[in-house]
Amino acid sequence: MVVQLKKIRINWGFFKTVQSKVTINHNHNYFTKYLYIWLMKQKIKPKIISQIMQKITVIGAGNVGATVANVIAHKNLAKEVVLVDIKEGTAEGKALDIWQSAPINHFNTRVTGVTNDYLATKGSGVIVITSGIPRKPGMSRDDLIKTNAAIVKEVTEKATKYSPDAIIIIVSNPLDVMTYAAYLAANKPSSKVFGMAGTLDTGRYRAFIANALNVDPIDVHALLMGGHGDTMVPLPRYTSVNGIPVTELLGKEELDKIVERTKKGGGELVNLMGTSAWYAPGAAAAQIVEAIVDDQNRVLPVCAMLNGEYGLKNVYLGVPCKIGKNGIEEIIKIALNKEEQALLNTSAQAVRELMKSLDDMKLFE
Ligand SMILES: NC(=O)c1ccc[n+]([C@@H]2O[C@H](COP(=O)([O-])OP(=O)(O)OC[C@H]3O[C@@H](n4cnc5c(N)ncnc54)[C@H](O)[C@@H]3O)[C@@H](O)[C@H]2O)c1
Repeated sequence: MVVQLKKIRINWGFFKTVQSKVTINHNHNYFTKYLYIWLMKQKIKPKIISQIMQKITVIGAGNVGATVANVIAHKNLAKEVVLVDIKEGTAEGKALDIWQSAPINHFNTRVTGVTNDYLATKGSGVIVITSGIPRKPGMSRDDLIKTNAAIVKEVTEKATKYSPDAIIIIVSNPLDVMTYAAYLAANKPSSKVFGMAGTLDTGRYRAFIANALNVDPIDVHALLMGGHGDTMVPLPRYTSVNGIPVTELLGKEELDKIVERTKKGGGELVNLMGTSAWYAPGAAAAQIVEAIVDDQNRVLPVCAMLNGEYGLKNVYLGVPCKIGKNGIEEIIKIALNKEEQALLNTSAQAVRELMKSLDDMKLFE
């Protein structure tokens, strides 16, 4: 059952005042049908999200991939989510485990796991790529790029063969350059191939601010730009607590500390757990999938190919974008001051160098 009464789930008494915001994700379910009839009788015309997505594929059934599939299933974002991995049994087992939580957590998105069987992914509307290996001792950054780019290339080619119209979201690291690798392999417009990092980094930043101020994290609005790594560009000037500039609520020193902690947010978790994070990354990737599936036109920071925006060209970089059914519907241009633009340029330069390393490897010729 997929009934998303997004704004009214909280308080049914507010039905009439929020009627324009009633949204039903229509998937031929009896409850949905009767709810729709009831709403119409109350003279409330719900917005029907046209068609439920048939299939979403998540490649890589490791920590992040399994979490993405789990969140997608719990949000009932498609009829089926297919988890693919190269390791025999891993995707099958995790998919079965997630599906067995359906009767308990009440969702009906079917969860299927397969080993390298791309036929099972046929007809996917969205493909999330999380496959790859972490950097091992003695491995240079270029070695990691080469290994993971080869994996991203292989899985992108195999998956797009069966789902040529799919929108592709990259999660594998090094994120910006892996997004570029998928773009080279996918042979489709860059608006349909982009990376997830900014939604996660912004989530971390917002969570830290919510802690510092002891406020609900949902009230913290923020924006982060740039590459996924040390050169990311948090923007306190564009951070607010429900419209109140964060600079009025937190001193510079505390804010600077939060910005620094955000930049090293991934490393903090690696130090604690010995491996990189998955709950927030998985949720962040699923948030982008939801924006596409429900055609939400949400404004989210994603790793997008720039074509002149912010004075930068031919580089994948984290920028705010409007995300809807076509993927990136628009790259949003905001005014940056000199210092912010300089930080973004530095970040772009760092990503460009990695993109050049990939070009020099000639994997895509
Ligand atoms: N973008 C971000 O913000 C962000 C955040 C966290 C992690 N990551 C990255 O996401 C990736 C996944 O992280 P993880 O913690 O899930 O790692 P993981 O090791 O738990 O999972 C990776 C999975 O990919 C699979 N795989 C490898 N080669 C494959 C292939 N050719 N086809 C199909 N599957 C293949 C592996 O078998 C493994 O199950 C890593 O590159 C990690 O650095 C990115």
